[in-house]
Amino acid sequence: MKKQEIFQAYQDFIMPTYTRSPVIFVKGKGMKLIDIDGRQYLDFFPGWGVGSLGHCHPKVVSAVRDQIDKLIHLPNNYLSTQAARLAKELIYWTFPGKVFLANSGAEANEAAIKLARAYGKGRYEIISFENSFHGRTLAALTMTGQKKYQEGFWPLPEGFKIVPFNDIKAVERALTEKSVAIIIELIQGEGGINVAASDFVLALRKLCDEKKLLLIVDEVQTGLGRTGKMFAYQHFGITPDVMTLAKALGGGLPIAAMLARREIADCLTPGSHASTFGGSPLVCKAALAVFRAIQKEKLLANAKEMGEYLKEKLTNLAAKYSLIKEIRGLGLMLGIQLNIEGKPIVEECLKNGLLINCTQERVLRLMPALNVNKKQVDKAIGILDRALSAVTSKPEGNACLPARQGAASE
Ligand SMILES: Cc1ncc(COP(=O)(O)O)c(C=O)c1O
Repeated sequence: MKKQEIFQAYQDFIMPTYTRSPVIFVKGKGMKLIDIDGRQYLDFFPGWGVGSLGHCHPKVVSAVRDQIDKLIHLPNNYLSTQAARLAKELIYWTFPGKVFLANSGAEANEAAIKLARAYGKGRYEIISFENSFHGRTLAALTMTGQKKYQEGFWPLPEGFKIVPFNDIKAVERALTEKSVAIIIELIQGEGGINVAASDFVLALRKLCDEKKLLLIVDEVQTGLGRTGKMFAYQHFGITPDVMTLAKALGGGLPIAAMLARREIADCLTPGSHASTFGGSPLVCKAALAVFRAIQKEKLLANAKEMGEYLKEKLTNLAAKYSLIKEIRGLGLMLGIQLNIEGKPIVEECLKNGLLINCTQERVLRLMPALNVNKKQVDKAIGILDRALSAVTSKPEGNACLPARQGAASE
């Protein structure tokens, strides 16, 4: 297909649920993406957190190649070595418990909601936080603490309460005899890279223990080394009762997991929950390769070291540009709080071969692969520096670049 035909097909045949940048990518390798015209881009936001190993990591590619001829899918009423090995691996890295395998973050969170209700035996209310994000399915978006995702989709399911982040008194006030669980992202990703306060997290854990509530930690975006530890909760000195994962788990293939402490996990009984595709041999094999790569290539240490390096470079940029208010985050999950809209900066970076993201209109989000090196960080910082400079020098109100010709959808 020619470029114009692709743009047209998007207009005519793909639902307009995304604001799309008019770039057609045809190849990815490591930190690089290559577009249809052969232009190279440095990807500092690979797959919205999926690409923790970068694009087409050789270990993932060879695991998939090895598995694909043997067995791709197997329904969950049979057993597979790959699912068994992956479940053991997940529990090895977390807490004594059991795993439910699914396909996406929202699906893992839906499974956690059902597990909480099964555990609650009549208690069903789940408390979540303002600015959180838990997915787009109806229950997941109901506990997402951002009105914009809920607008137009009423009526929403019952049994969810949203309270301010980092405010333990607000959580206490929201509790009723029907409360069963609290769900939290320890670093809110879509919400703008907001790191939970450690005393708040400890207080939440204590409250959950006292009131027999489940503490559900949504690690869909923070999991698998993103913050410099395998899971973000490991920074906070707590253990969740339930944890959800997706994004980076499959190295690019769709797989998600919901983990729960053993006695809670057994509240879900045969027939109470299921997923046709969940945990097929192919995706489990890819996920095992992800764990192997993280260990063999010492990616937790690299994420910590490169995260600090990137943060230091961003702090230097903050000293240079007054439009940067704050740099925040952990490991390689970093946000740049601006006092202007970030979209023109993202577009300027894209024009110059760097892919980054902007969330909450004024927070630039950088989440490069865990195997990023100093040279790539320096290159990205150079492009970002030029983009900031270009935007600063533009007259006010004129900072937004026009969409490129042939934009697929805006
Ligand atoms: C913290 C968090 N939870 C859940 C989700 C939903 O995941 P998915 O898009 O795979 O359904 C996301 C997606 O961005 C997320 O960041």
